[in-house]
Amino acid sequence: MSEIILQTENLSKQYKQRWAVRNVNLEVRRGDVFGFLGPNGAGKSTTIRMILSLIKPAEGTVELFGHNLFREREKALQNVAGIVEKPDFYLYLSAHRNMEIAGAMTLGKKPEKKKILETLASVGLEERAEDKVKTFSHGMKQRLGIAQALLCEPQLILLDEPTNGLDPQGMKEVRELIAMLSGKRGITVFLSSHLLHEVEQVATRMAIINNGRMIVQGSVDEILHASINTMFFDVEPKKKALSVLQKLNCVTAPTLTNEGITAQVAKKDIPKCIAALGSARCKIYTVRPKQSLEEYFLAVTNNEEQHR
Ligand SMILES: Nc1ncnc2c1ncn2[C@@H]1O[C@H](COP(=O)(O)OP(=O)(O)O)[C@@H](O)[C@H]1O
Ligand SMILES: [Mg+2]
Repeated sequence: MSEIILQTENLSKQYKQRWAVRNVNLEVRRGDVFGFLGPNGAGKSTTIRMILSLIKPAEGTVELFGHNLFREREKALQNVAGIVEKPDFYLYLSAHRNMEIAGAMTLGKKPEKKKILETLASVGLEERAEDKVKTFSHGMKQRLGIAQALLCEPQLILLDEPTNGLDPQGMKEVRELIAMLSGKRGITVFLSSHLLHEVEQVATRMAIINNGRMIVQGSVDEILHASINTMFFDVEPKKKALSVLQKLNCVTAPTLTNEGITAQVAKKDIPKCIAALGSARCKIYTVRPKQSLEEYFLAVTNNEEQHR
């Protein structure tokens, strides 16, 4: 198993009385494309800001490459780059000039022209190097932001919703860029997203966060697999059916969602569930295995919603 290069322990942040992030324990290994999935307001940006040391956590620790972020800030962040929300540019200057300025800020000196052109080429912007950034599409700006982050040759790059607001083509380009960073350059990528299919497409490992709390973390395959034994019941009345299923030993974690009930049940026990629901005079419209990570995501996030 490869080395853990980013680890957070009980990372928490409070705004007024409300926990925006609570006890988040992330483990990112070298080589991961790590998807940090959660709906809007889940706490993704706040977590990334804490990891990049842009804001201070209320509690908890962050370790990067084995260095504690609070005790050894410089060493911890040495090989790390990140973009939180939208990258900022000088719109009336060229991409090339923006790269010079960004390089001067992060490296302390103007990067060599060759380096800038190579980096722009790696994000597919070589032809546009001398064009003003104000002429760029949203997707091109996003790629330019990534190019700026690459100037310091990071080993870990954190991208906060890099495809947000892009059209399908722009999203695809950013996903391909992420695959390239990981595959060709060996950079570990941590990206947040509220889109499950995106995480499913690009990530090797993932965590789901909702209401500031982490719900699950693991390989994308494992998490997909975990949903195979999850059954979906389209049944009425839902509350009554829930209490029936809760009383059955063969049913684990029955959960009310907007659409029905999800629960962990082995296939052999389905008839038992149907019989119990039937004798309680519940109407069963459908019972089926939930296969997509999307349903799993919706179920776990809805479940959290109920416990607020
Ligand atoms: N500067 C802030 N002041 C007060 N509340 C904040 C601030 N930043 C974020 N929040 C709140 O913290 C929660 C998490 O926000 P955020 O991390 O931006 O979520 P996400 O990036 O997943 O959409 C939200 O409820 C948000 O309103
Ligand atoms: Mg955000």
